[in-house]
Amino acid sequence: MMRKINGRITGVGSFLPSHRVTNADMEKLVDTSDEWIRSRTGILERRRCAADERNSDMAVAASWRAMEMANLRPEEIELLVVGTVTPDYRLPSTACVVQKKMGLVNAATMDIAAACAGFIHGLSIADSYIRSGQYRRILVIGTEKLTSVTNYRDRNTCVLFGDGAGAAVVESTEEDRGILSTFLRSDGRMAELLWIPDGGSNTPPQTFENGDGNFCIEMTGSEVFRHAVRQMGDASLQVLKMAGLEPSDVTWLLPHQANIRIMESTAKRIGIPSERVFMNIAKYGNTSSASVPIALDEVVREGKVEAGDILLMTAFGGGLTWASAAVKW
Ligand code: ACO
Repeated sequence: MMRKINGRITGVGSFLPSHRVTNADMEKLVDTSDEWIRSRTGILERRRCAADERNSDMAVAASWRAMEMANLRPEEIELLVVGTVTPDYRLPSTACVVQKKMGLVNAATMDIAAACAGFIHGLSIADSYIRSGQYRRILVIGTEKLTSVTNYRDRNTCVLFGDGAGAAVVESTEEDRGILSTFLRSDGRMAELLWIPDGGSNTPPQTFENGDGNFCIEMTGSEVFRHAVRQMGDASLQVLKMAGLEPSDVTWLLPHQANIRIMESTAKRIGIPSERVFMNIAKYGNTSSASVPIALDEVVREGKVEAGDILLMTAFGGGLTWASAAVKW
């Protein structure tokens, strides 16, 4: 009889730059207020990389913590998947940069550009490769230096974003636990609701003179809000159904930390009470692909997860892209 294998998360880690940017700091940059930011987003402060702190540096720091928890050596990793939209370079991939810094000498590597849903895309890819039998030990990272693509003259976006990284080691298991189901989806028709208009091959930096060109995130926030609640809610119900679970089985909902009101509305749509929704947006703001793995690392390290608990992760971002995963710890 064929043995059933799937992916199981055996190590988690995260890293946040030490420099804090408070709402009072934002008040000095744009026409905003601490009261508006708190009540409309739930954010109190966010982190910002130092000038010489790279996206890959955060990814590596988060990954060493995950590797230590999993008790793995760098040469044991067979695949590295990095979710990021703020790579160190256009070429090579951030995964290749991280591979070099960590000595992951036996790994295949890839970057995933699925914005805030990048980490859950990575988890799904890891689980699928493990189920296929091709790889057994995979490192998945969500990492963003969003402050490098933030327009600090645009109050609609600049108060939201921060830097950070999270990582998970996914290993094969034959036990009755691990990644139960994943669901990925996108809709490119609405790309311009949340995008970086310039700097790609259509309009490379050399196209512009005198500081023209928009190399920063532009977002139609209220439209994105509406889609985020519907799609994260429905994707989450879908993965629960695929795993044969009910919303009442969920120990923790770990939603993308984009906005406290989005998280509350999504939880309501799924049917999960607010005390089972993990939130750290107050401390870090929106860190895109890093937000779900940072939340995962914190909920685990705070001792809030026991063997057998059900974790439901969900994220939504530019593309538009969205994803959910159900995990039995
Ligand atoms: N301070 C004060 N006022 C502000 C600010 C600010 N920082 N930002 C916007 N406003 C104003 C607007 O100008 C507008 O004023 P007007 O009515 O005079 O034009 C008013 O507040 C309301 O604006 P809305 O955009 O309708 O406000 P909303 O309640 O929707 O909140 C927000 C805006 C926080 C951006 C919200 O829409 C949101 O969180 N959207 C989703 C973000 C998200 O999930 N992104 C996905 C992932 S991000 C990624 O992929 C990198």
